[in-house]
Amino acid sequence: RQSVDSPLYPLLEAAAEFYRQALKSHPARKAAVDYLKGRGLSGTIARDFALGFAPPGWDNLLKHLSGDALQQKAMIEAGLLIENAETGKRYDRFRDRVVFPIRDSRGRVIAFGGRVLGDDKPKYLNSPETPVFHKGQELYGLYEARKSNRDLDEIIVVEGYMDVIALTQQGLRNAVATLGTATSEEHLKRLFRLVPSVLFCFDGDAAGRKAAWRALEATLPNLQDGRRARFLFLPEGEDPDSLVRAEGSDAFRARLEQQAQPLADYFFEQLGREADPRSLEGKAHLATLAAPLIEKIPGANLRALMRQRLGEITGLSGEALSRPHAPGAAIT
Ligand code: CTP
Ligand code: MN
Ligand code: MN
Ligand code: MN
Ligand code: MN
Repeated sequence: RQSVDSPLYPLLEAAAEFYRQALKSHPARKAAVDYLKGRGLSGTIARDFALGFAPPGWDNLLKHLSGDALQQKAMIEAGLLIENAETGKRYDRFRDRVVFPIRDSRGRVIAFGGRVLGDDKPKYLNSPETPVFHKGQELYGLYEARKSNRDLDEIIVVEGYMDVIALTQQGLRNAVATLGTATSEEHLKRLFRLVPSVLFCFDGDAAGRKAAWRALEATLPNLQDGRRARFLFLPEGEDPDSLVRAEGSDAFRARLEQQAQPLADYFFEQLGREADPRSLEGKAHLATLAAPLIEKIPGANLRALMRQRLGEITGLSGEALSRPHAPGAAIT
C-alpha cells in the first residue's frame, strides 16, 4: 500500500477543490447544475458527496495547479492529466463533465469519476489505476456511508455513482458502488469486516444479472457462519437510482424487505435454470456445477446445509457429493 505521505494525496484534494469551486462559480457551471437538478439531486446531497464540475477546455486544471514540470509529472501519475505519447502534449483528463470524487476509507480523495452532461460517449470516465487508486479494491460511497453511521448492520452494493447518491438522498444511507468493475473477493472481505450482511442490488438488465452471479462467486469464500448475503433483482430497465426516484423510499425499502433473496435461494434457483433437475442428467449436471462452489464456503454449518439441500434436489447422498470431481482422477 501507498505510504501515508504520498504527494498524490494533496494534489488530488486540490483537484477536488478546484472541481467543487467550478460547480459553484465557473461561468459555464449552469449546464452542470441543471444536469444534476434534472436528475433530482439536492444541493445538500451534492455537497455531501463533494460533487464538482470539470469545465470545458483542455487545460483548466493544468493551469490552475500548473507549477513546474515535477508537479505536472505528479498530475499525470495521479491520473489528472494525460500526456500524448507522440507529441508530449499534456491536457486535462476530465473535461466538461460532472465530477465525482472517490475517497478511500479514511476519506482521502484517491480518484475521480466524470459523467458527460448529455448522451456523449463514454458516459463515464474514471481515473486510471494509480499508486493510490486500485479499482478492484475501492468502493464508492463507503467513506460517506460510514461517516453518517459508524454502526451499520448492512451494506447495499450497487453498480453506479448515481445509484449510491440517489439512495442516500432518499435516506438509504448504506449504499456503495463497485465503479464499473466486478465485485471482487477483496471487496467482500472489506465489507464483511464492517457488517455481517451484504445486499446486492444491481441493474435490472442482462449485465446486472451477470454481475449478481459474479458477486455471489466472490461472496462464497467470505461466508463464515453468522454472515449473510442477499440479492434484490430489479424490474427490467430499472436501476436503484431510477427506481427509488420513481417509487420513493418507503416502497423501495419494502422491496428490499420482501423481495431480497437469500444467497442460498438465488444459488439453487440460478443453477436450476442452467441444469434442469427434473431429469437425472440435469441432476448430475447440477451437482457438478454446485458442489465445487459449495466447497468454497468457509462456514461449516452453511456449507453442510447447502450440501444437504443439493442432496435433496439431486437425490445424491452427502458422501457422493463431497467426492472430488477431478475428471479422470478415478481412472487407474
Ligand atoms: N461505468 C463506467 N464507464 C462506463 C459506463 C459505466 O465506469 N462507460 C461505471 C460507472 O461507475 C457507472 C456504473 O458503471 O456508474 C454503472 O453503469 P451504468 O448502469 O451503465 O450507468 P449508470 O450509473 O446507471 O449511469 P447514469 O444513471 O448516470 O446514466
Ligand atoms: Mn499499491
Ligand atoms: Mn447498467
Ligand atoms: Mn442509472
Ligand atoms: Mn445503471
